[in-house]
Amino acid sequence: HGTSKINDFGHLEIGGIDTVELVAKYGTPLFVYDVALIRERASEFQQAFQAENVPYQVAYASKAFSCMAMFQLADELGLSLDVVSGGELYTAMQAGFPMNRIHFHGNNKSLAELEMAVDAKIGCVVVDNFYELRELSRICAERSYQMDILLRITPGVEAHTHDYISTGQEDSKFGFDLVSGQAHEAVQLAQADQNLHLLGVHSHIGSQIFETTGFVMAVEKMFELISEWRESYGFTPTVLNLGGGFGIRYIDGDTPLPVGEYVQKMIEVVKEKAAAMDLSMPEIWIEPGRSLVGDAGTTLYSIGSQKHIPNVRDYLAVDGGMSDNLRPALYQAQYEGVLANRANEETTETFSIAGKCCESGDMLIWDLPLPKANHEDILAVFCTGAYGYAMANNYNRIPRPAVVFVEDGEAFEVIKRESYEDLLRLDLPLAKKVTK
Ligand code: LLP
Repeated sequence: HGTSKINDFGHLEIGGIDTVELVAKYGTPLFVYDVALIRERASEFQQAFQAENVPYQVAYASKAFSCMAMFQLADELGLSLDVVSGGELYTAMQAGFPMNRIHFHGNNKSLAELEMAVDAKIGCVVVDNFYELRELSRICAERSYQMDILLRITPGVEAHTHDYISTGQEDSKFGFDLVSGQAHEAVQLAQADQNLHLLGVHSHIGSQIFETTGFVMAVEKMFELISEWRESYGFTPTVLNLGGGFGIRYIDGDTPLPVGEYVQKMIEVVKEKAAAMDLSMPEIWIEPGRSLVGDAGTTLYSIGSQKHIPNVRDYLAVDGGMSDNLRPALYQAQYEGVLANRANEETTETFSIAGKCCESGDMLIWDLPLPKANHEDILAVFCTGAYGYAMANNYNRIPRPAVVFVEDGEAFEVIKRESYEDLLRLDLPLAKKVTK
């Protein structure tokens, strides 16, 4: 997919570059991003809105993969940015990302983070709870600044891939709920507050979603709320943020829709609902993370040890694992992969791919069809671009991999490989007791 193909040497090539050469230059494990594919995904989302002539913002949910270069690319692509921490906001500042296109999320933003957001005059804060509403107002008042906000609503719709449920009692740590009257109380407080300018509402129903049904249910819930708010408080939103969660294809059985189709359906229902209420069309904002960067990322590993258990299984171990991809261990996530240096060869064997961490659960892929492989081979695991590097860690004091962007036959390193010295950067030696 994307610009990936098998070249004349039988090697996997991405962005016009031979992955075997990438490994020779940058080592393994290595995250490789197909920049053309990120561009394509961004434009698919944007075109879906433009085709319907609807005012919109597509905010990249940067938790999926954040670094300065990624933020600069997002800026170049005309995306807004959803950040969820001071660290992501700081990275955006250092990357020179326009502050007015930043949306700040999170269920427990610290006071320091809220101050940082107000001082930076970011585009909007998605207010999650009463504590935040109060503290943000105070921080704005101290600075004589009015901040644009959305209220995060727990829509009572939860979606996981193709299952979606309507949860009557909305048991979630995020947002103002619809059932106990929190959303109504919040809108009244926000409206009465001179320090806050309420743009509208936000809802997010889940992640890795393959159908439009959940989004339609969420739009319906939001419009019930909007209708009540208009009647009771004379408030009509100018922004409706419907969150992220658009699924991608990790393995053969995954059946996401083309990203534009989610958007089309959302627009259709919002138009219908707005017309029925005689409401002018709100701006629609979305926050895709995974669907912008997930399938653009590939991880390259060197293969090391093997273990053959007769009549049971063949293990093949790679030089990374749950330290660079937590998703299999955390969510039983599944991936596909190939031998990058022998991508044209027939897959005659079945290997289970183990990581190198001291933990039995550190398995990346079970039963992967491959050619006969050994320690000279490179394994490419596909679709690791979202929540891969982002959730990478130093378990077992394994340094985090390097990340390169590739496009049009050129590679750009965007995150350097961690060194052993980097691992010790914050360590302090044991303070010795002074004994006489
Ligand atoms: N907006 C909000 C408010 C969110 O909470 C999330 C994801 C997104 C947008 C972006 O969702 P996406 O388009 O990427 O599905 N670590 C998990 C995923 C956690 C998603 C958390 N929130 C994983 O690796 O599957």
